[in-house]
Amino acid sequence: MISIRGLKKSFRMEQQYVHAVNGVDLDIAEGEIFGVVGYSGAGKSTLVRCINFLEIPDEGSITIKGFGTFTARQSKLYHTPKGGGTEAPATQQELRQLRRSIGMIFQHFNLLDRSTVFENVAYPLRYTGISKEEIERRVKELLELVDLSDKIDSYPAELSGGQKQRVAIARALANNPKILLSDEATSALDPEVTESILKLLKDLNRKLGLTVILITHEMAVVRSICDQMAVMELGKIVESGNVYDVFADPHAASTRRFVNASFGLSNLDKLEESGVITITPDSKLVRLTFNRDSVGEALISEVSRKFKISLNIVLANVEILQDAPLGALIVLAKGDPGDVQRALDYITSCNVKVEVLRDGMA
Ligand SMILES: Nc1ncnc2c1ncn2[C@@H]1O[C@H](COP(=O)(O)OP(=O)(O)OP(=O)(O)O)[C@@H](O)[C@H]1O
Ligand SMILES: [Mg+2]
Repeated sequence: MISIRGLKKSFRMEQQYVHAVNGVDLDIAEGEIFGVVGYSGAGKSTLVRCINFLEIPDEGSITIKGFGTFTARQSKLYHTPKGGGTEAPATQQELRQLRRSIGMIFQHFNLLDRSTVFENVAYPLRYTGISKEEIERRVKELLELVDLSDKIDSYPAELSGGQKQRVAIARALANNPKILLSDEATSALDPEVTESILKLLKDLNRKLGLTVILITHEMAVVRSICDQMAVMELGKIVESGNVYDVFADPHAASTRRFVNASFGLSNLDKLEESGVITITPDSKLVRLTFNRDSVGEALISEVSRKFKISLNIVLANVEILQDAPLGALIVLAKGDPGDVQRALDYITSCNVKVEVLRDGMA
């Protein structure tokens, strides 16, 4: 659906250049919910703003199904029509047409405060050549889709945050886009409302076959509705893949931090500092990750018996991701070094990922 190659965008700040997007390659399949996570300043917003050309990239190309390829060279944009043909400078009309086919929602909703819900949703339909009656029909249909028909004459100030975001979603979908870009759309909402907006996005994704690119700094958001994900750091994608696989086996340091935080495992340092866990010379602090291929329900008690070591559970968490369980367990393994090693080897052989976090025996 979307194919990005060598995308770069920098900003000049006084004497310096900020490389907000610094060589991004990304493929997003049709009908997918694709999450992009990263810390503040990683370049996430700049990346999505390049996808609908609110920002013109410096270098790189973006191919969008049905729209051909847009290629940037030295901050100038060129367009190759779909199915090939000759490249020519991109025209305003081409960009307008493309933007109309890509909806976007934001953290702060960006509604027109002096306009009613009806007018807000109707806004992108003006100048599209459709009749007044048709606009009215379409707005009503959209409000039904986001479950907000009863607020058609309200003003934004009379709505809750979640309702405002529903209006923004209806507006973003006005022109029947195939792609929806969501930049921190739930970051200003409390957890319950976040949940309902995410559910709405998932429903729309299924019902309309909408491809969604979801920018967030919250792993919980990615975990709950995304199929694929990418982690961004300093303008680059440092890791990407299926959400379950990335959570089960994160590689990049920042991905690990995100995953640990989302599993509640960042409490570990606090536990150690407060003296709740002490790593003695006959012990190792180990992280076990149970994925859908792991075997052995009673693995912990089985291993303690078999290898004559003690395994104390320090922290535990099980998440359901893409309908499959993913468990993280922090255990303190104590005993004879040889026994502990054999026990960990055995656990590994049961398809459980073993990572030694602290090694008192070393
Ligand atoms: N218009 C601009 N002018 C100058 N610098 C910019 C501009 N837009 C973004 N930047 C810089 O580019 C970098 C990436 O910004 P961007 O907004 O893409 O990050 P982000 O990942 O969306 O962060 P956040 O999570 O805080 O929204 C930052 O260092 C930012 O200061
Ligand atoms: Mg941002």
